[in-house]
Amino acid sequence: MKICVLPGDGIGPEIIAEAVRVLQALDLGFEMEEALLGGCAVDATGDPYPEATQKLALAADAVLLGAVGGPQWDGNRREQRPERGLLGIRKQLGLFANLRPAILYPELANASTLKPEVVAGLDILIVRELTGDIYFGEPRGIEVRNGERFGFNTMHYTESEIRRILRVAFEAARKRSRKVCSVDKMNVLECTQLWRDVAAETALEYPDVELSHMLVDNAAMQLVKNPKQFDVVVTGNMFGDILSDEASMLTGSIGMLPSASLDANNKGLYEPSHGSAPDIAGQGVANPLATILSAAMMLRYTFSNEAAAKRIEDAVKKVLAQGFRTGDIYESGMKKVGTRGMGDAVLAAL
Ligand code: IPM
Ligand code: MG
Repeated sequence: MKICVLPGDGIGPEIIAEAVRVLQALDLGFEMEEALLGGCAVDATGDPYPEATQKLALAADAVLLGAVGGPQWDGNRREQRPERGLLGIRKQLGLFANLRPAILYPELANASTLKPEVVAGLDILIVRELTGDIYFGEPRGIEVRNGERFGFNTMHYTESEIRRILRVAFEAARKRSRKVCSVDKMNVLECTQLWRDVAAETALEYPDVELSHMLVDNAAMQLVKNPKQFDVVVTGNMFGDILSDEASMLTGSIGMLPSASLDANNKGLYEPSHGSAPDIAGQGVANPLATILSAAMMLRYTFSNEAAAKRIEDAVKKVLAQGFRTGDIYESGMKKVGTRGMGDAVLAAL
């Protein structure tokens, strides 16, 4: 059981350290090895996804990632941007299924900017297609045409790409409330008309699951108006990027949300849904819970160890109930802790 650990940039190394401590405490015999991805890799090698990292990631059963990116690399040319490393590893490992659960912990109901009655009990799973769409479509670029600059990207999906991510959503729904909402923009974009057609065809394989369709603009509105109408939401790469950030804030803090990116054989990359937070990097105040919960998802999906996954999730619930809070979820009367303090609390709860 090999885990490739990629701390990355910003708060990445701090939050990863806590997740690694939690995995070690479980004593399940994992072999963990670290490598560079993102801006730190650009600085060290000139490449955001260097060969040594590729070798390690390809050989591992799972990858645990902190976060990539930061303002110091914003001016870099595209091939040397940290995000390129992240897109590169997703594509190379074939991680087409991105699972982003948005769960509201009862203890954090007041941390949401929405009224408690709107978000109480919230439990949504966003299933985002991760290796296709306009993110990877060719042709793309910025050129001069007719004497002016012209920017262009290409949105495309094959029916097999759509079918395989829809199947992931339907399978996930079977373990939940058996409802899938497929999000598209079929009133304008042909590519997403195909998405809707294939979603409807795939639904015939899952008569026990209810499929609905929603246009993405309406979905963005419904997510804040009445988020509890959703169970599983499935959508393409770009819409999923946007809607998953929106869904995360329903729960109060993006600092709580884990994610899993899986290939067809449940090899996976696990990372918090939040970014590298350069504004608080190196201060020891970042919330490590999303990364710790990502490690739990790793145990569940790649290593099929539901019991160990539950142990971590129960430990996180316990520390919240005990009143431990990092700055992002702090309310007066609670016990304010930093990254290490939160890690200590989780280890104690374990
Ligand atoms: C995410 C991020 C990435 C994405 C960026 C960092 C490339 O926003 O994982 O949601 O757009 O996929
Ligand atoms: Mg995003």
